[in-house]
Amino acid sequence: MSVLSGKKVLLGISGGIAAYKSPLIVRLLKSLDAEVRVVMTPSAKDFVTPLTLSTLSNNPVLSTFTANELDNPVWNDHVELGKWADLFIIAPATANTLSALVNAKCNNLLIATYLSCTSPVYIAPAMDLDMYAHNANQENLKILKSFGHQVLPVGEGFLASGLHGKGRMLSPEEIVDFIEKDLEKSLPLYGKKILITAGPTYEAIDPVRFIGNHSSGKMGFELAKEASKLGAEVLLVSGPTALELKDNRIDVRRVTSASEMFEVVMENYPDTQIAIAAAAVADFRPDNSHAQKIKKETGFNTINLVPTKDILATMGKEKKGQFLVGFALETEDELKNAIKKLKAKNLNAIVLNSLNDKGAGFSGDQNKISFINQEGNPTDFELKSKDLVAQDIFTQILKHYA
Ligand code: CTP
Repeated sequence: MSVLSGKKVLLGISGGIAAYKSPLIVRLLKSLDAEVRVVMTPSAKDFVTPLTLSTLSNNPVLSTFTANELDNPVWNDHVELGKWADLFIIAPATANTLSALVNAKCNNLLIATYLSCTSPVYIAPAMDLDMYAHNANQENLKILKSFGHQVLPVGEGFLASGLHGKGRMLSPEEIVDFIEKDLEKSLPLYGKKILITAGPTYEAIDPVRFIGNHSSGKMGFELAKEASKLGAEVLLVSGPTALELKDNRIDVRRVTSASEMFEVVMENYPDTQIAIAAAAVADFRPDNSHAQKIKKETGFNTINLVPTKDILATMGKEKKGQFLVGFALETEDELKNAIKKLKAKNLNAIVLNSLNDKGAGFSGDQNKISFINQEGNPTDFELKSKDLVAQDIFTQILKHYA
């Protein structure tokens, strides 16, 4: 999921030829589930139409201080617009607009909105090469940086003048990519690698039969999505589930058995800062899996079971600074047994799952948990959907993770 998803993005367009690319910025932002409003300078309308921008943004486009409604002028409220924005992108920013931004020269609605806006501001300059290189513009860009704004680099190539060089506005993709990366840096788990196990494991009896359990994998998948939202790079090692996930920060590795899960986890664990074992790993497997399907007439009444490797306990043994979180599913003496597991597996925290509430547990859509810290102190939560449970778990992890 993009860090821009759900964000209120204000796009300011000033009057340069690069404005013809601005509708594509709107489109990209919308495709990432951002809400977009557009403010443009009157001269930008010579390059791109408000109708194009309002259609793509699904919002009215403002360019003047007042509008006529039923023959009465009404004020286009630049203060409301500035306060509405979670971020303000000015693209293209012409030399004239750069100068107006620096000098608070409030002669159009874009500048008035900028002056009322308290959100982060991203500025994508666009001009001819000598204009861009000119000290006057370079000084303005320096001043805008000193205001705390992000000034995007310019691209190099053919310019509208026919010259070739530095000055063109970055492409819409480059602009959105730059902003996404910049916003990610402020997320609490930016730069951290998180490993999460999810789902059941299937332990083969023969090529068609297995020992498994009812785990849906949902809790682990929701944890992975939440970790990604918080900026982490996630490795999700999942047993067989019907769940799908498309997120460029989540690498989903599908495994079947406990031993396959063990291999993938232990290979990646040294490079991980936080690991969460949400998988319902089979504790036992058949001691030998038959190569061919066992036929009915052969008779078959005993399966010899041997223990699987405990993945979480092995991570606990090999811990070198990782923050390790386990899950515990208990039916009696819940707190006492969970704390016992926390200590025995050398964990930093353990999430105790309830089986006592209808709809909760590892096959349902909801969960009721207690988060138990390293000292054995529990924080109890209400029954809620697993996406909200994942948020609670990460709020707790962030409290305890140094
Ligand atoms: N776990 C694991 N590998 C295993 C078994 C369990 O990584 N072979 C992890 C689970 O992902 C979970 C934690 O260990 O985070 C506890 O699992 P649970 O089934 O509650 O406990 P067990 O240790 O298996 O003990 P028991 O079944 O006796 O309660």
